Amino acid sequence: MSRTDRTDFDTLAVCAPGVEPLLDAELAALGIRRRRVVRGGVEAVMRQRQLYAANLWLRTATRVLVRVETFGAGTFHELERNAALIDWQRWIPAGAAVSFRVTSHRSRLDHTVAIAERLAAASGAELATTGDRRDDESPDDSAPVARFVVRLDRNQCTLSADSSGEPLHHRGWRRQVAKAPLRPTLAAAMLAAVGWPTNPSPAGRVMFADPFCGSGTLAIEAALAATGQPPSPGRTFAFMDWADFAAGTWASVTAVSSLDDGPVPLIVAADRDAGAVAATVANAGRAGVAELLSVTCASVSAFAPPPGPPPGPDDVAWVVTNPPWGGRLDSGGDLRDLYATFGQVMRERFTRWRVAMLVTDRHLAAHTGLGLDHALVTTSGGIGVQLLVTGPIGEKRDGPRRRRAPGGPTRPRRGSPKPT
Ligand SMILES: C[S@@+](CC[C@H](N)C(=O)[O-])C[C@H]1O[C@@H](n2cnc3c(N)ncnc32)[C@H](O)[C@@H]1O
Repeated sequence: MSRTDRTDFDTLAVCAPGVEPLLDAELAALGIRRRRVVRGGVEAVMRQRQLYAANLWLRTATRVLVRVETFGAGTFHELERNAALIDWQRWIPAGAAVSFRVTSHRSRLDHTVAIAERLAAASGAELATTGDRRDDESPDDSAPVARFVVRLDRNQCTLSADSSGEPLHHRGWRRQVAKAPLRPTLAAAMLAAVGWPTNPSPAGRVMFADPFCGSGTLAIEAALAATGQPPSPGRTFAFMDWADFAAGTWASVTAVSSLDDGPVPLIVAADRDAGAVAATVANAGRAGVAELLSVTCASVSAFAPPPGPPPGPDDVAWVVTNPPWGGRLDSGGDLRDLYATFGQVMRERFTRWRVAMLVTDRHLAAHTGLGLDHALVTTSGGIGVQLLVTGPIGEKRDGPRRRRAPGGPTRPRRGSPKPT
């Protein structure tokens, strides 16, 4: 893969393992030509406006890398000689430091720190002392860093520039987190896996509920998607500091307005922890969706759907949640009761809703008494997790056992990103 001209980029959109088909579907919906799905990402060719649109609109990707160059690097001399030929100024804004995330396989050069030092010297920029920032979303006040990913394989060095900068899961609106927050990209993957609408039909209601909302990640992602807004409105990206940044193209990519003729989503969220509820409200305010959320401080046993009749055939109604999972079997007693209560509340009050729950332990999930199928298998914080889903609650065995193709129902809505 190499850059084919000034406006075509060979890219790798990066995601968590297991999420690739969902990311592939997102790229397809943007009209982007995908080359192949690889573990942890999708390779694609993007024109400049598509690169901008991908960063703005992709909900499940953590970053979008652009291939800068591939060259021989069998020795440090060869690495330095080839690195000196790179047009670094194209990727590094004036005054920025550089960081290189280096991996080496089957290659003579395997001292990743020394490789990064040589590349930094060739670039003429200072090597940043830190890598990625901590995993929260507070504003970064430190000096700008141009990030690169370097992969040596069989003495060939592939250098990629990170067009996203701050990882895409740093949404900007999620500055307050409660205990065990989900990565927003995983929340987005859960929603995509159940077919949460980004293009709802005006015919029906669109309803969402999360009784264990923590910092509100799922509810806010659901609100942004269902109203056709980008996942992190207003955030900036590394490509905006590149030498060939086209402000007019960016303006046209961001000019797409959100829908106002679709149904207003009805979103209820709750948590028994008052701090979590405060975080949800504050985060929703920053995301601009506060008026779409009804948030309460209550235990799951008091949780109820939005007022109105049970969902009909034209309605979309999902409980998508991430209950506490604990880490150890010996804490399973309390959690079994909690899961049983959750299942009982679903059966008694959420008739014809569908349920999706992210769990680490399928046996624990069985205490809900709900008929559950797999919709997604991935990782969260290095732990294996699975998204389990039901059919409509109250129908036979919680509805027909059907499994949607991941990503299949996700499609661009009117007014949201157009294929570019
Ligand atoms: C894994 S966290 C959810 C994290 C959330 N998805 C986020 O991104 O921030 C589980 C949440 O369940 C809440 N919780 C635990 N027991 C509860 C109960 N009985 N009723 C309601 N909420 C409860 C905890 O306070 C915690 O915020």
